[in-house]
Amino acid sequence: MNRQAELPSLAPALRSALTASTDDRIFYDLAGIARRYTALLDELPGVDVRFAMKACPVDEVLAHLAALGAGFDAAGPHEIAQALRTGVPASRVHYGNTVKSDRGIAEAYRLGIREFATDSLPDVTAIAEHAPGSRVFCRLATSGEGALWGLSRKFGCSAADAVQVLTAARKAGLTPAGLSVHVGSQQLTAKAWTVAFELLGDVLVDLERHGIRLDHINLGGGLPALGYLDRHGTALDPPLDEIFQVMRQGLGHLRHLHGGELDFVLEPGRHLVAEQGAIRAHVYRLTSRQQPDGEREHWLYLSCGKFNGLYEMDQLQYRLVFPTHPDPQYVPAVVAGPTCDSDDAFPHGHTTGRVPVPRAVASGDPVWILSSGAYAVSYLTQGFNGFDPLPYTVLPADARLPSPCR
Ligand SMILES: Cc1ncc(COP(=O)(O)O)c(C=O)c1O
Repeated sequence: MNRQAELPSLAPALRSALTASTDDRIFYDLAGIARRYTALLDELPGVDVRFAMKACPVDEVLAHLAALGAGFDAAGPHEIAQALRTGVPASRVHYGNTVKSDRGIAEAYRLGIREFATDSLPDVTAIAEHAPGSRVFCRLATSGEGALWGLSRKFGCSAADAVQVLTAARKAGLTPAGLSVHVGSQQLTAKAWTVAFELLGDVLVDLERHGIRLDHINLGGGLPALGYLDRHGTALDPPLDEIFQVMRQGLGHLRHLHGGELDFVLEPGRHLVAEQGAIRAHVYRLTSRQQPDGEREHWLYLSCGKFNGLYEMDQLQYRLVFPTHPDPQYVPAVVAGPTCDSDDAFPHGHTTGRVPVPRAVASGDPVWILSSGAYAVSYLTQGFNGFDPLPYTVLPADARLPSPCR
């Protein structure tokens, strides 16, 4: 039971920061984020990347992405203000949340934002009132099938509603500028993209019939991270090459249908940052306890869990490295965080979800938690159960020396 051999390669900058660290913290590798950003543009040339801030609202990360040319997908005035602090022009930031209050719209407008996501008539009316003359793009609902987090139902509208919404926007003095989709976060299939492009094509053509000619399509987020394990501990292996292939075909198809200039926006979140972040945590205790059903189970309690860095641990497992136990005997254990909350654990069933843990781990031993850079800092609780939010350090792109940030 040795998964060390399966570990993905760890960037040297991250490895040395994790090795040197004597306290718990998350490290972000700016050079790695830049590499992933460049690789994405190589796959989808000409696409305008607007980083989904929620995945990693860390000033240094945002500033670096802005310097590389990225814009931002912001969910409200607070994120908008943070995006603008990077120096990026307001024209490269959009209000990508379909859920907005009047006050939020007005504040975004005051900050200079002129592009808004929408999916309903009441929202269009509010945008027209509080952000007059702005550009809007209408989010189409998707099923979320094939994704770990579907993001369906709460957001997006039907094809028929989209025509109504954008027609109403035009009547209200707004510019009906685009359509958007989100195929679901950590989307693991290429098929979801095929379905999304078909839907976008149908609505694009229908809108033309209604005299509405768009200037862009926003493909949302959903591009997967590569370093996760599923609920059972098996490596998730998203077909990234096939996904990019389907996307390139889709872009070509939509351009062809449109028959003129059509821009494309992408809002990647986790794909850019997940593997570029890693947590140094430590072992609380490895226990063996008989359960009420008579079964004896090992549990490994860590200093870091759902409420202080690993919010997504209920849907997936992270790869763990025990650097002080290079060649150990393993026992299968359920992994859990430090709080008095039973949700604070890796997914596990009666016999599934066990993680190989060195039998000899002792309280205080360091543990590295890989591919944990997405939705970590943003989902930290403010000290739930008395456990402090995880501090972070950003490793600069041009030097290998950590610069502590918080
Ligand atoms: C509107 C929007 N765009 C982009 C993203 C980023 O998604 P992901 O991290 O899956 O790329 C999200 C995340 O939920 C979102 O809500």
